[in-house]
Amino acid sequence: MPRVVLVTGKGGVGKTTTAAATAVRAARSGLRTLVMSTDAAHSLGDALDVDLRTAVTWRESHQVETRLHALAVGAHTAVEADWQVVRDYLLGALDAMGVDPVVADELTSLPGAEEVTALGALAHQAHSGDWDLVVVDCAPTAETLRLLGLPEVLGWHLDRLLPAQRRLLTVLRPAATVATGVPPPGPDVLAVLRAWRELMVEVRTLLTSPRASVRVVLTPERVVIAESRRVLTSLSLHGYAVDAVVVNRVLPPGPVGDEDPWWSAWTTAQAAGLDRVRESFSGIPLLRAPYLSGEPIGAQALAELAEATRGDAAPDLMADVDVPRMRVAADGADFLLTLPLPLVSASQVALSRRDDDLVVEVEGQRRLVTLPSVLRRCVVQDAEVGGGELRVRFERDEELWASGR
Ligand SMILES: Nc1ncnc2c1ncn2[C@@H]1O[C@H](COP(=O)(O)OP(=O)(O)OP(=O)(O)O)[C@@H](O)[C@H]1O
Ligand SMILES: [Mg+2]
Repeated sequence: MPRVVLVTGKGGVGKTTTAAATAVRAARSGLRTLVMSTDAAHSLGDALDVDLRTAVTWRESHQVETRLHALAVGAHTAVEADWQVVRDYLLGALDAMGVDPVVADELTSLPGAEEVTALGALAHQAHSGDWDLVVVDCAPTAETLRLLGLPEVLGWHLDRLLPAQRRLLTVLRPAATVATGVPPPGPDVLAVLRAWRELMVEVRTLLTSPRASVRVVLTPERVVIAESRRVLTSLSLHGYAVDAVVVNRVLPPGPVGDEDPWWSAWTTAQAAGLDRVRESFSGIPLLRAPYLSGEPIGAQALAELAEATRGDAAPDLMADVDVPRMRVAADGADFLLTLPLPLVSASQVALSRRDDDLVVEVEGQRRLVTLPSVLRRCVVQDAEVGGGELRVRFERDEELWASGR
């Protein structure tokens, strides 16, 4: 599998520039590199100074220079039509099933064709065998979090519908409709549903594997740092690893610095910002990219920006990512589920149990954690937040345990 690096951050901080610079540098160091943009407002072509509008399928990339290809993923009409069928079916089926409010709420996050196309393109390119490294220029954080939450949310919907459908299809169609009120999908819809289900599992497996990581780009300003902190929490909640934080537009210590009040106000604010970044993201390597005197446009300028980017101890881009992930361990007679959740306090976390899922909500972000089978036979005893983790203690439900469900 290639190494996959997702680049995200607040609007305008330099995500596209950082993604492109990382890719140019990697390609020039000998790696077969693809940089792809999933942001509908594509500016990857502008940063690289090439025309990327020529790609007509999600499989077609544009060669920028030796070993470096770029791709701007748009909503592809074929996928759009395909996806519309699934979406309409899912909405109709869930409606007929008389979905409960939590599920109905989840429905609002059913993805659009563009998002599904982006994930499809990523899965396709990652599995193509053409690349050592795939760098993804993502949309600003809110959209990216939505995109990264999708494989799980959608997989969840499909999981609940598909087994039911399998049963339904074994009986006569009209009877099934009467019995459950759910119109069974035609064979074509079912095939599309299954294909999407597979794709979602594939994408989620890839993105939560040690071969994938997220790089958060920020500028050393209070508002940007505040948002980036929330992003780190949300990414952890969804099980994604952040392997570096890129501080972009760091002002050079210039000779004007001490004389000009405007300039010194900014350099002082940036120094304080850098301290705050270090504090907030301790344990995660920081890379600092200088504020250049002009826009870095084109491969050569991007390579120079990458060259001038300094790090604490820059992580080896190609190495496996080693960050803590969700785990379950026996603790005496109980079980302990640990989910890394940095930068939050207990008051910001809400937990609830719904059937076989644990619903974790942090400030508007929700994850449905499908519990491993051992925990399905347990009840939540208590939970605590601290040291960058959420720990949930599960106690055996003796009745379920005895019944050996
Ligand atoms: N280190 C830098 N020095 C000088 N200019 C920079 C630097 N980084 C980015 N820029 C310029 O800042 C502008 C915004 O950068 P970029 O498009 O990479 O941001 P973005 O985070 O991708 O924005 P969006 O949220 O719109 O996708 C561009 O004109 C880019 O050339
Ligand atoms: Mg951008």
